[in-house]
Amino acid sequence: MQNLELKIAYTELENESELNTEEKKLLSKARESSDLAYAPYSNFFVGAAILLENGITVCGNNQENAAFPSGLCAERVAIFSAGSTYPNVKIKTIAITCKSESFKVNQPLSPCGACRQAMSEYEIRHKSNIRIILQGETGKIRIMNSIADLLPFMFVAEELKK
Ligand code: THU
Repeated sequence: MQNLELKIAYTELENESELNTEEKKLLSKARESSDLAYAPYSNFFVGAAILLENGITVCGNNQENAAFPSGLCAERVAIFSAGSTYPNVKIKTIAITCKSESFKVNQPLSPCGACRQAMSEYEIRHKSNIRIILQGETGKIRIMNSIADLLPFMFVAEELKK
């Protein structure tokens, strides 16, 4: 028997002022996108902004549905939009933020498992890591250099070939 440990690396910033100009802009686009979310059931508004290697930004926000599971998270709306519009362009960075109508979100957003899996597909597809920048409405910013850091032991395509 072996008891093993897994470590992940991430960075925390006190606030936006520690981001570079490009990343500040991306986070602000994610915030703008969260204002456009359709979230009448949860009143929890999430926005994602994706910076592609060609300099274009693609945004998305959560789209809810009266049949709850038919809705989709902001991250998947954004990454599927990027993947369908610019299939051959690498994704550099994704910034994600959120706000709620009922409380102040002062912790970095933590993407759901399904979105982590969906985003990781694009790292594998393009053989290129995606930087991820997470913030709530205010407060600390959490940064990972790769989606893989958010999803240890992820399901990968090789498993399908066995
Ligand atoms: N949501 C996202 O858009 N991204 C996440 O990472 C977590 C949750 C959305 C889904 C739903 O519309 C609302 O937030 C509450 O769960």
